Amino acid sequence: MKSLTDFQALKAAGEKIVMMTAYDYPSARLSQEAGVDIILVGDSLGMVVLGYDSTVPVTMADMIHHSRAARRGAPETFLLTDMPFLTYQISTAQALENAAQLVQDGGCEGVKVEGGVEIAEQVYALVRAGIPVCGHVGLTPQSATALGGYKVQGRNAETAKKLLDDALALEEAGAFMLVLECIPAPLAKLVSERLSIPTIGIGAGNHCDGQVLVFHDAVGLFDRFTPKFVKRFATLGAQGHEGLARYCQEVRSGAFPAAEHSFTMDEEELKHLYGVRDLQA
Ligand code: KIV
Repeated sequence: MKSLTDFQALKAAGEKIVMMTAYDYPSARLSQEAGVDIILVGDSLGMVVLGYDSTVPVTMADMIHHSRAARRGAPETFLLTDMPFLTYQISTAQALENAAQLVQDGGCEGVKVEGGVEIAEQVYALVRAGIPVCGHVGLTPQSATALGGYKVQGRNAETAKKLLDDALALEEAGAFMLVLECIPAPLAKLVSERLSIPTIGIGAGNHCDGQVLVFHDAVGLFDRFTPKFVKRFATLGAQGHEGLARYCQEVRSGAFPAAEHSFTMDEEELKHLYGVRDLQA
């Protein structure tokens, strides 16, 4: 399993860090086998696998449940778990209690929190308590309503400067990594150059120290909407549609299950069962 020192070394060497959002045993297992460096159990699970319209309804119980599953699928990969909406903003005590639960019960190595200067105190407290923290600035989905929707952030000099200040405050507070979501590529480049900790981009261009995509987006399993920054590396959804249509048709026609999917029984036992000498009779 890669460590915080390894992530720092990858940045120093100019080598990219690969992060994947995955929420369960099979997706985490596939991600680990593919060689990703970090698995993020993101609260995007609210929209992608729980069917909510936003990440806001996601609970601590949801995150713990999914972290455990991802942990079982990827025991050798650094696991980062999102702290859900309003589980860290209220106070440092609240943040500490919830982060500790994610690490102890969820089995993750670190937690991710959304926000800038306003949560620096919480980040500082978690890091002091020994919990690695990844920040997340730019489009922060937990506050999408306050941001006016899912829009690119930091497009003018003033908002870009605020984002850079937020990033610097998180680094100063002890964050070991920072996700930059949906910001102009030149701004992500500037932030990545100014910070000594690695940046992980999603919709933030090619100059970040690493990239993250959601598993279901990357393999074509989520088609409710497709953000501009998503690239599909596989089309499992289309294959799934085709396969499931064939399944329905074969069940209805009786072609499935065939003999090779069925279990046999000893002929003598069958005769006893039927109460006959000869089964053909
Ligand atoms: O919840 C999530 O999956 C995330 C990533 C997209 C960065 O926060």
